[in-house]
Amino acid sequence: MDFSKMNKIIEGKTKIIYENPDDKDTVFMVFKDDITAGDGVKHDIIQGKALVDWQTNRDIYEYLNRCGVRSHYISSPEEKVSVVKKLERKINLEVVSRRVAAGSILHWGKGIQEGDRYDPVITQFHYKDDPLHDPMLDDDYIEYMIRAKNSIEYSEARRINALVFDCLERAFAAFGVQLIDFKLEYGMIKGEVVLIDEITGGSFRLWPYKTDKPNLNQPNILTELDPAGRLDKDVYRMGGELGEVKDKFGAIAAITAKFKDLPA
Ligand SMILES: Nc1ncnc2c1ncn2[C@@H]1O[C@H](COP(=O)(O)OP(=O)(O)OP(=O)(O)O)[C@@H](O)[C@H]1O
Ligand SMILES: [Mg+2]
Repeated sequence: MDFSKMNKIIEGKTKIIYENPDDKDTVFMVFKDDITAGDGVKHDIIQGKALVDWQTNRDIYEYLNRCGVRSHYISSPEEKVSVVKKLERKINLEVVSRRVAAGSILHWGKGIQEGDRYDPVITQFHYKDDPLHDPMLDDDYIEYMIRAKNSIEYSEARRINALVFDCLERAFAAFGVQLIDFKLEYGMIKGEVVLIDEITGGSFRLWPYKTDKPNLNQPNILTELDPAGRLDKDVYRMGGELGEVKDKFGAIAAITAKFKDLPA
């Protein structure tokens, strides 16, 4: 496809969205080699990252389709390009779900230890705003929006996040990897709350199991996991070499490539 002749709708940090001249209900999502962290403050280019992210995103969304998750994803007709349903309205939230305590949640209070396991997963909402560093929304506010305002954005996003977590956690577990947490985004398409955007190495934390038969049925599962073997964007956030970051993202793509052989 020749995107130089197409209308760019928006260019973000990791993707460009183009109008589809043949179908006003869909857009092209084109992956870039850029990687960013800290709300865009840290920024690099990793040659080949776009292709790896495109593969990971394709394989995850095709698996989610089989799990019955409603999303914007349609197809991936050529390298680095996906076709997705066009957003009618963006929901300005990042929706984070966590199975295992890691990262920013460790600063919430003394009682929280790395490796604490949550069942069911806990879900938190962040207002998307880079200069404000995506502040977390108060639980009471979310409950008020759901109960008093009947706001389907929050209730649906929470429900779909849990469904996606379940589905992806089982899939990664089949390859000896624990899905620790992830961040998803939503939009309104034809009046429904729909999962949008990319799901790639920057979307989650993935830690390999330490043994073949981890005991995950405990309040804290850190001893069962190998955080030093992490496969995700934390490698970049923590200052890893770009080559190492690319290798880890490649390792994720190698796993998600096998999702097609899993039962949904
Ligand atoms: N189905 C869709 N239809 C239209 N736009 C979409 C769709 N899915 C994602 N987008 C938009 O694509 C844009 C580019 O994505 P990218 O992730 O590169 O942005 P970003 O700079 O990271 O900003 P953001 O913090 O909003 O993700 C975003 O504005 C995102 O909302
Ligand atoms: Mg983004």
